[in-house]
Amino acid sequence: MSMNTGKITAPFRKLGLIHVFDKVKFRYIQAKNKKLNQAFAKKYPDVVLPPDYLIFETFHLNYNSYYFGGQESAKDIVEEVKPYIDLNQKKILDWGCGPGRIIRHMHRFVEGSDIHGVDYNPTNLNWCAKHIPNVTFSKNEVNPPLAYAEGVFDFIYGISIFTHLSEPNHTAWMAELARICKSGGVVFLTSHGPIFKRILTEEENKRYDQGQIVTRGKAFEGHRVYAAFHPPSYFRALLEVHFEVLEYSEGKEESWGINQDHWIVRKR
Ligand SMILES: C[S@@+](CC[C@H](N)C(=O)[O-])C[C@H]1O[C@@H](n2cnc3c(N)ncnc32)[C@H](O)[C@@H]1O
Repeated sequence: MSMNTGKITAPFRKLGLIHVFDKVKFRYIQAKNKKLNQAFAKKYPDVVLPPDYLIFETFHLNYNSYYFGGQESAKDIVEEVKPYIDLNQKKILDWGCGPGRIIRHMHRFVEGSDIHGVDYNPTNLNWCAKHIPNVTFSKNEVNPPLAYAEGVFDFIYGISIFTHLSEPNHTAWMAELARICKSGGVVFLTSHGPIFKRILTEEENKRYDQGQIVTRGKAFEGHRVYAAFHPPSYFRALLEVHFEVLEYSEGKEESWGINQDHWIVRKR
């Protein structure tokens, strides 16, 4: 059973201390997972991983699930979109690539593709540029635009990015992704769907049930503690301004936690 994080963090958020709370949480998780992560490092000495804070900020601080889960996610994305697009010899963008959890594995599952990664956090990008070969990385701002011309990408994926954006940026980024995607190109996105209702407060759930986006601010937009939760009807309406929805799958409870909703869409 997941904790009601809204209730726990609300007082810190209200006082403008959510980032302090999060730093303390990082140290706690780092100490808690130390043995497990040391065992991974000993078993796989050739696997180069980003600094702990970057892993924590963008995923969970567990080296095994960061590395092997990232590999699995890259494979799953390629497989999930296969009915709609063959990703070999294509131009691909990982929007919000973080310190490369997924993009570092992409070349294993696609052939001859031109792969790009962007993120607004320069620390993530510097790490990626130093450690991940055969991928072009560039930094963007939290608000659009990206430095790409119109219609250049065959395929764009954004894993857990809208989940950390403000409401105005949902509209703005959807339009920007549509701008840089080829006509007929495919986009794969995730959102915080109904399974996340269990971590919302009563008041947040009321708004969610009315089909409204729920955001938790008083934090730096784009950071893990800035959170957005999306009723599927809200996210679908946003997508359908620019895209045709090809597939929607609702997030479920998994052995490691709760999964986000998946959306595969095609640019009109
Ligand atoms: C939860 S992490 C997910 C990282 C990566 N997609 C993954 O699945 O491992 C969210 C990422 O989105 C990035 N991000 C947030 N807002 C962004 C924006 N407006 N443009 C680009 N990247 C953004 C953050 O820096 C962070 O790396």
